[in-house]
Amino acid sequence: MRDIYEKLVRLAKRRGFFYPSFEIYGGASGFQDWGPLGCSIKTNLENLWRNCYIHQEGMAEIECPTLTPYKVLKASGHVDKFLDERLKCRKCGRQWRPPAGERCPECGGKLISFTAGLMFETKIGRDVEEPAYLRPETAQGIFLNFLNLYRHFRKHLPFGVCQIGKSYRNELSPRKAVLRLKEFSMMEAEVFFDPNEEWPNFDKQKQKEITLLPSSEKHPVRLSLEKAVDTKIISSKPLAYYLGITHDFLLDAGIDPSKMRFRQHRKEELAHYAKECWDAEAYSDRFGWVELVGIANRTTHDLKLHSQASGTELSVEKVLKKPKIVEVLKIQPQMGKIGSLFKEKSREVKAFLEELDPEKAAGDLKIKIENEEYTISSDCYKVVRTREKVDHEKIFPHVIEPSYGTDRIIYLLLEHAYRETEKKGERYSILGLKPLIAPVKVGVFPLIRKDGLPELARTLDKKLKEKGVTTCYDEAGSIGKRYARMDEIGTPFCVTVDYQSLEDDTVTLRDRDTTKQVRIKIKGIGNYLKKELDRN
Ligand code: ATP
Ligand code: GLY
Repeated sequence: MRDIYEKLVRLAKRRGFFYPSFEIYGGASGFQDWGPLGCSIKTNLENLWRNCYIHQEGMAEIECPTLTPYKVLKASGHVDKFLDERLKCRKCGRQWRPPAGERCPECGGKLISFTAGLMFETKIGRDVEEPAYLRPETAQGIFLNFLNLYRHFRKHLPFGVCQIGKSYRNELSPRKAVLRLKEFSMMEAEVFFDPNEEWPNFDKQKQKEITLLPSSEKHPVRLSLEKAVDTKIISSKPLAYYLGITHDFLLDAGIDPSKMRFRQHRKEELAHYAKECWDAEAYSDRFGWVELVGIANRTTHDLKLHSQASGTELSVEKVLKKPKIVEVLKIQPQMGKIGSLFKEKSREVKAFLEELDPEKAAGDLKIKIENEEYTISSDCYKVVRTREKVDHEKIFPHVIEPSYGTDRIIYLLLEHAYRETEKKGERYSILGLKPLIAPVKVGVFPLIRKDGLPELARTLDKKLKEKGVTTCYDEAGSIGKRYARMDEIGTPFCVTVDYQSLEDDTVTLRDRDTTKQVRIKIKGIGNYLKKELDRN
């Protein structure tokens, strides 16, 4: 008996959802091609995501290179910490993910543990020594553009920036179709905010009840987001807010609410950049709970590390509500001494001293004026501690990151939509995909292939296409077979032109989920269907 996974993989291949990549050369594990129907679902899912994050949440989208210089990923911690714990067989060399037991499941050889870097290495330019990497997440491009983006948002926090695109990880890829790929698609948002300011719009989400599995618990609990924050199960409102947004997005896309939960990472599971992380997980028939989205609190990790490594400070000036008195170190140029030593060059020396970091000013200092080097002796300046009133302070914004894996979500949407039925002794499969996600929205058929029915059906098909409805015209085989073909790929509606259509300009409209048929007028059918499809 095949399980849903096997049935879906076969269906995907037969109908064009996804195919193993490079198949005619024997394939390569960890790579899958999206076929015509799969690409269509992917576009629909990305558009739904854009609608949520860009249109509704007011974020901006950017697109950065996937090839990334060494310096970037060294600074972010990925070079040293983005690693996989693995086991390798001494005898046959095969690698396994722990826990795989003492002995190689393939040949029985002894297993030894080691750590593998997860990034694919390459080179940018011919003569460079340093490696470069294929990006393991889209996020870094957003962090590097922080100052440009802060300006784009007119220097106001909070703001969010998204990126949709490919990421690469040299994973061990057991046969899991699109669930664990070496090249996969992500939809990520980085939300920059000041943790000392009230998080806006929490009221919109706070009543929402979601299923949470905290790291300290064995069993999930169902709680409102407000309760989860009040009881410190989720540590902050911004993090809770994006659990709520993710919950709604996944349900809108078609994840079964009874097969969805948010699981908190245990301390030892956390990525090197995260202080807290909740995974949105969906239940799969074969694979159990599968992570679809990681929602992490990345704190100031990336902005601080890139500031240190690049020398460009990725911080913001915050206007204080109340000015405050702070102790500051200041350099006081001793103008009497400077004047007598440097004469007409005194202005340059004074400006140099005022620019200097007081923490670093000590002893004799070197200055270059008009290509000549001079020494500023330590009696030309004093470092003093004074008290000053300030109305601004520098802060590094904190970051919440919802990170969605497109490929995994699509697989789980297919799995949760899959059902079977039996008609006249034959088994049919149906994908109950949401209309927004379904690759084809309406099947258009002539009842039979003569007497002017195909011509009328083709005219109707063209009219629907012009209205922006994705259709599939089909005149091959019995009408039952054609309905079955559409059900199998998740088409929500089918329209059939029959003899009555020639007389009264009506057609039958069949609903995939109820299989009920109604007669409706051809005139206005486009608007009617668009409304039905939007109902989702
Ligand atoms: P896992 O623990 O399953 O390896 P992860 O914790 O490494 O996943 P994240 O780093 O949080 O995953 O990545 C964010 C999202 O990207 C995941 O929720 C998942 O949907 C997707 N993703 C990560 N790795 C892969 C992969 N190898 N193939 C397909 N999707 C992936
Ligand atoms: N950007 C999140 C991740 O790679 O996990």
